[in-house]
Amino acid sequence: MDDLRIKYLTLIADAGDESAIESLRVQAVGKKGEISLQMRELGRMTPEERQTAGPALNALKDEITSALVARKESLADAALDERLRSEWLDVTLPARTRRMGTIHPISQVTEEVTAIFADMGFAVAEGPQVDTDWYNFDALNIPGHHPARAEMDTFYMHRAEGDNRPPHVLRTHTSPVQIRHMEKHGAPCRIIAPGRVYRADYDQTHTPMFNQFEGLAIDRDISMANLKWVLEEFFAAFFEVDGIKTRFRASHFPFTEPSAEVDIQCSWVDGQLKIGEGDGWLEVLGSGMVHPHVLRSANVDPDQWQGFAFGMGIDRIAMLKYGMPDLRAFFDSDLRWLRHYGFASLDVPTLHGGLSR
Ligand code: DAH
Repeated sequence: MDDLRIKYLTLIADAGDESAIESLRVQAVGKKGEISLQMRELGRMTPEERQTAGPALNALKDEITSALVARKESLADAALDERLRSEWLDVTLPARTRRMGTIHPISQVTEEVTAIFADMGFAVAEGPQVDTDWYNFDALNIPGHHPARAEMDTFYMHRAEGDNRPPHVLRTHTSPVQIRHMEKHGAPCRIIAPGRVYRADYDQTHTPMFNQFEGLAIDRDISMANLKWVLEEFFAAFFEVDGIKTRFRASHFPFTEPSAEVDIQCSWVDGQLKIGEGDGWLEVLGSGMVHPHVLRSANVDPDQWQGFAFGMGIDRIAMLKYGMPDLRAFFDSDLRWLRHYGFASLDVPTLHGGLSR
C-alpha cells in the first residue's frame, strides 16, 4: 500500500496538464484502477486482516483523490497566471498610427461653411444636380433668349426624339435651390445650399464640375445691410482674420436687383497671397436683393417679403484659404495631393473647437 501511495503521489506531482490528471485518476481510483482492484481483494481476507486493510485502503483512496483535485486546481491556477502574464497590454504606450484616408478639402470647407452659417441661424438645403431648365434659368428670371444662358456653357441632357418632358440640364449653379426651397417652405427662410454644379469649362481655375454654395435669407424687411453684415461675419470666421474688409461692386445678375459682386481684401507679397491684409482685392462671390420675379416664381409674394441671396465658389475659397494653386488637382484623385492637402478625419470643424488645424 505504501508503494501505491508513493507511486501515485509522485505521478500526480509530475502531471503536467488536466488530461494527465484524468488518466491518473482512471488508473488509480477508476472502476478498474489499481486501488479499486485492491479493494475487491478485501472480500477474500480474514475478518482481522480486513479490519486493518479496509480503513487503510479507504484512507489511501481519499488521499489520492484529494491529491488529484489539488493538483488539478494548481494546474488551473498556473494556467491563469500564465494568461495574465502573457495577455496584457500597456495602455500607456503611444498609439501606433495607421494611415487612413483624409477628408477632401471640398468636404472640409463645406463643413466649415456650414458650421459658420448654422451659427447665424441658416439651415442647409439641397436640390438635384440634374434639374429642369425652368428651375435653372426661367424661374431665376433668365428667359430663353437671355444671354446669361449662353454664358453659362450649360450641359444639356440628351433627349430622345418624341420625349416631351421639359428639357433637363446639369445645374450650372446652386441658385435653383432657392426656388425649390421657397416653393416648398415659403417665407420667411434662411438657408445655405452647398453642392456640385457643372459648366463646360476647363483651365487652371475652372473644371467642368465644381462646387458652390448659395445663401438665401427672406423676411419682411431684410436689406443689403444685413447681407453685408452676414458676409463680413462669414469671412472673418472662415479666413480666421478679424475685421477683414470687403468691397461691394455694383454688378448685374438676372435674379437680383440691385446686385453686387463682393471682393475681399488681400495682399500679394513675394508671390504669396495673404487674405485680410494689404490693398489688393479678390472677387469671391455674387449677391444681391432677390428679384421680385424670382420670389413670384416660387409663390412668395414680393409685396410681403424680401431678402438677399448670394452664390460663392467653395473650391475657390478653399484654394484661397489653403493655398492650393490649381483647381484641376482637386479632382485628379492623386494620393500624394490628397495626403498633403487632406484633413484628419476626426477633426470636425466647429466654431468653438476651431475650423481648421
Ligand atoms: N448663380 C451665380 C453664378 O453661379 C452666383 C450668384 C450671384 C448667386 C448672385 C446669387 C446671387 O444668389 O444673388 O454665377
